[in-house]
Amino acid sequence: MGIEFRHETFRDDFTFRNSPAAIRRFPFPFDKDSYMYAVNIEPHVSGPKGSVYEHPIDVDEHYVSEMADRALVLKEDPLRCQSLPHMTLAGWDLLELLMECKSTSYPEHFSLTRDGDKWHWINRPLGIDDKFTFGDVSTLPYGPMEYITRQSQGDFCLLDQRDGNLWMDAGIVTTQADWSLDFDIGMNFMEWHGPVPLAHQLGVFERALKFMLNLRQGSPVRRLNWTMTVNPRLDTSPENYHKWGTDRATLTPENIGNKLHLRVELQSFFRLPRSNAIVFPIRCYLIKLEELVTVPKWGRRLPRVLKTLPPELVDYKGLTRYRDMAVEWLSRYDDGAETSPGG
Ligand code: HEM
Repeated sequence: MGIEFRHETFRDDFTFRNSPAAIRRFPFPFDKDSYMYAVNIEPHVSGPKGSVYEHPIDVDEHYVSEMADRALVLKEDPLRCQSLPHMTLAGWDLLELLMECKSTSYPEHFSLTRDGDKWHWINRPLGIDDKFTFGDVSTLPYGPMEYITRQSQGDFCLLDQRDGNLWMDAGIVTTQADWSLDFDIGMNFMEWHGPVPLAHQLGVFERALKFMLNLRQGSPVRRLNWTMTVNPRLDTSPENYHKWGTDRATLTPENIGNKLHLRVELQSFFRLPRSNAIVFPIRCYLIKLEELVTVPKWGRRLPRVLKTLPPELVDYKGLTRYRDMAVEWLSRYDDGAETSPGG
């Protein structure tokens, strides 16, 4: 049976919710009661059936609504999608990767037929049926990266590899945790990571970059990152800070369980075949505290993580104003039991 897509919003009336099944598959990111940056990279291999790791590119019940939200962001601000001229080949590589992954993993929703460079793509949930010539931009309504990522949940950065570094030379970024593609475009790995506290001193970025430079085609890797967001808002960009920055002041002990969301990014890294670029999909999953505590071990662990989070991370992730209130609300769900690593 196919996925049942929900119709919901990530702005204004915020009707986004997770079904019980979506709560169960949420990628809870903490494997112990504390958190610190590390080079937490592992092979992006297939995980348990139904989990967010089952397929290389996860499609879930929020797909159709997330794509509608992306279209709204792009309409208001076309600079959320940029590709420097030398990145078009990487865009075709990405189009191939995403079409192949989706049609193989979800044949009831997507289909790809290839006859040489004549391709036929059907995306049933979004009502798209297009024939085009692979490699010929004039046969698509957008450039290849924009075309396929308007149909793919999560943000995408395309990184060119040269001079022993990675360069953010293309991307589509509409669901980000407070950073800007327009600001970062053309920067290298160390430059765009400049604002992150503590990790540079720990050597995290030096080791992570080395790892990335050696990434091989056919052996993708992944990591989880996280922050928190008030309201289920996908577009928490610096460009729209005036729209969401003040949300933090609206939290109260009564509404925090409903309004505050754990925001987890499933980040994966794939080497692309023709361009030798790397694609970095950043897939965002949101869960409100009230949904999260329905899984007792998560309700027990999250207050412990938040309580002991290093002050530099509290500040960088923008939690300062409400961290204590969140810990207090969540502490009702911490029965004091010992937790096991990974559990
Ligand atoms: C944060 C991009 C890979 C670790 C960030 C930020 C960006 C970014 C734009 C936000 C920086 C800001 O505040 O402006 C990327 C891209 C990658 C990549 C395009 C593709 C190669 C990695 C890898 C690691 C990593 C491999 C492994 C350790 C981090 C950490 C943060 C961060 C720890 C801070 C996140 C937080 O506390 O919320 N990254 N990154 N990144 N990145 Fe990366």
